[in-house]
Amino acid sequence: MVKSTGFKKIKTAVFISGTGSNLKSLIKFSKLKKSPISIKLIISDNLYAKGLNFGNIFKIKKKIFNFNDRRSAEKRIISQLKKNEIKLICLAGFMKILSRYFIENFNGKILNIHPSLLPKYKGLNTHKRAILKKEKFSGCTVHFVTSKLDSGKIIIQKKVKINKNETEKSLAKKILIEEHKLYPKAIMNIFSIP
Ligand code: GAR
Repeated sequence: MVKSTGFKKIKTAVFISGTGSNLKSLIKFSKLKKSPISIKLIISDNLYAKGLNFGNIFKIKKKIFNFNDRRSAEKRIISQLKKNEIKLICLAGFMKILSRYFIENFNGKILNIHPSLLPKYKGLNTHKRAILKKEKFSGCTVHFVTSKLDSGKIIIQKKVKINKNETEKSLAKKILIEEHKLYPKAIMNIFSIP
């Protein structure tokens, strides 16, 4: 358990690939006095990620890396993280898999949010698969990242009911609302004084 001192916030990088609604909620959370994190860097593999706009709006440094050559991208990201003294990475809709090399070379914690009740529905198209399987519930999970996809230790989960006429879109929307609350809660659980 890392103690939050109340004045020295943990320097954090958020990795995104798309819309960045989780990034936005994390930025808002980071600005609260009680929050143990301060977001110093936004990293994306996608130059056109809509979420990069939040970097402009909130004046946070952004860096884009082309993952065609993953090893080279990861090396350059590690050096950026060191330069900015980043100790926490929050993956927030980041759609690339980080290698064992990256995970072992980053000196800090890596968290991810996934839109299912892990260990169920790892990977992509989680909502579609949960509906097709006629699940009564789905939800979201925040977990530590390891080199195995969506498999690290679970920190916290939130269950969401799947209604009779649920569509992929309506379920995604409902779960996203919960994600925005769950990620900050997970961070508070990990870093606040017990
Ligand atoms: C979120 O639902 C997140 O859980 C999911 O992508 C969405 C990103 O939304 N992540 C994954 O599927 C990772 N495996 P956002 O860009 O609006 O935060």
